[in-house]
Amino acid sequence: MELLRITTSSKEYPVFIGNGVIHQLTEFVKTELSSFTKVCLIVDSAVADLYLKDLQPALAELEIAIYKAPSGEQAKTFDVYYEIMSFLLDQKLDRKSIIVALGGGAIGDLAGFVAATYMRGIRFIQVPTTILAHDSAVGGKVAINHPKGKNMIGAFHQPEAVFYDLEFLHTLPAKEKRSGFAEVIKHGLIHDVVFYAHLRDRLQSLEEVPPSDLQAFLKRGIEIKGDFVSEDETEQNVRAYLNFGHTLGHAIEAEMGYGGWTHGESVAVGMIFALQLSRKKLKLKFNVEDFKSWLSILGYETTIPESVSHEKLLQRMKQDKKSVGQQIHFVLLKEIGKPELCELSDEELLEELAHF
Ligand SMILES: NC(=O)c1ccc[n+]([C@@H]2O[C@H](COP(=O)([O-])OP(=O)(O)OC[C@H]3O[C@@H](n4cnc5c(N)ncnc54)[C@H](O)[C@@H]3O)[C@@H](O)[C@H]2O)c1
Ligand SMILES: [Zn+2]
Repeated sequence: MELLRITTSSKEYPVFIGNGVIHQLTEFVKTELSSFTKVCLIVDSAVADLYLKDLQPALAELEIAIYKAPSGEQAKTFDVYYEIMSFLLDQKLDRKSIIVALGGGAIGDLAGFVAATYMRGIRFIQVPTTILAHDSAVGGKVAINHPKGKNMIGAFHQPEAVFYDLEFLHTLPAKEKRSGFAEVIKHGLIHDVVFYAHLRDRLQSLEEVPPSDLQAFLKRGIEIKGDFVSEDETEQNVRAYLNFGHTLGHAIEAEMGYGGWTHGESVAVGMIFALQLSRKKLKLKFNVEDFKSWLSILGYETTIPESVSHEKLLQRMKQDKKSVGQQIHFVLLKEIGKPELCELSDEELLEELAHF
């Protein structure tokens, strides 16, 4: 087991990483979260089917109320949010109660937003079950979606702790592994050239990552996320660098209708695009072709799907929460590990997309 500490201006909390760490959750709640009243577990229904029966003995002492939410993105809706609020009131949770989120990033975001707003905010614990959630479980951004846009209703609310039990990851479909690893690669590219080189060297298949490597990669990914979050909890400056690959990535994900391509698969193409732009605008020295062939070996698409119109991608990028006054900002790299924010004109972007 490994223990990391995330320090932000609003809270400091532990991240436990390793096989079987879920079994320490009950003890943690009893000893560290003093004077708690009730605990409610909000769980992804697919994860519940796979794991809940086995987990119940470990959680029995806490007499948990269990709410099974729809799996994945379907959970991040107003309807589900409202239903959970009613459930918590029926179950008589109060301001000293605790929410536990068990699932991928979607459940973490939903349960975190519930915790941020129920009775003006109660404590919560993240128990991520996907590789992607090494990213989303840390940092305190929580949200649900509006039909007009993803993550449009949200808050900053840090968890009390993160229990990242790597045993859960065995059942992840290949697509979801790809989705998560794109963020691990991103963390290397934006912050740590040695880690990136290590990933490039060690990672040749996402299906056969040795457990010790997996733990080390995810731990480093979380540390890097933690570094950005502790410097800039509410994204006034450097936290924005975590959006590397996401400006175009989000646009592709949306144009593909959410779910056609996973978040990380879309971000992978966004990173290739951002790396090419970085070569051009900031003289980055980097072999993009080699990066593309590595991503292909790992099972990623490396080009924008033909069915997607460049004009529509541009419009999506302008609507992005990160755009300022319709001007698109890209995170580019001047060196691996050294990001910079660059403003790009529409013409320039359309030109680049045409040659991508
Ligand atoms: N808050 C943040 O900082 C942040 C950062 C990145 C992403 N996100 C959010 O995270 C969400 C994506 O998270 P995700 O990629 O984890 O997806 P997800 O939560 O939608 O899970 C993906 C799929 O995997 C299934 N699943 C989860 N765990 C499993 C397991 N152990 N075995 C088998 N199947 C399992 C789920 O049921 C779902 O179908 C998005 O909503 C995104 O907006 C938030
Ligand atoms: Zn992301």
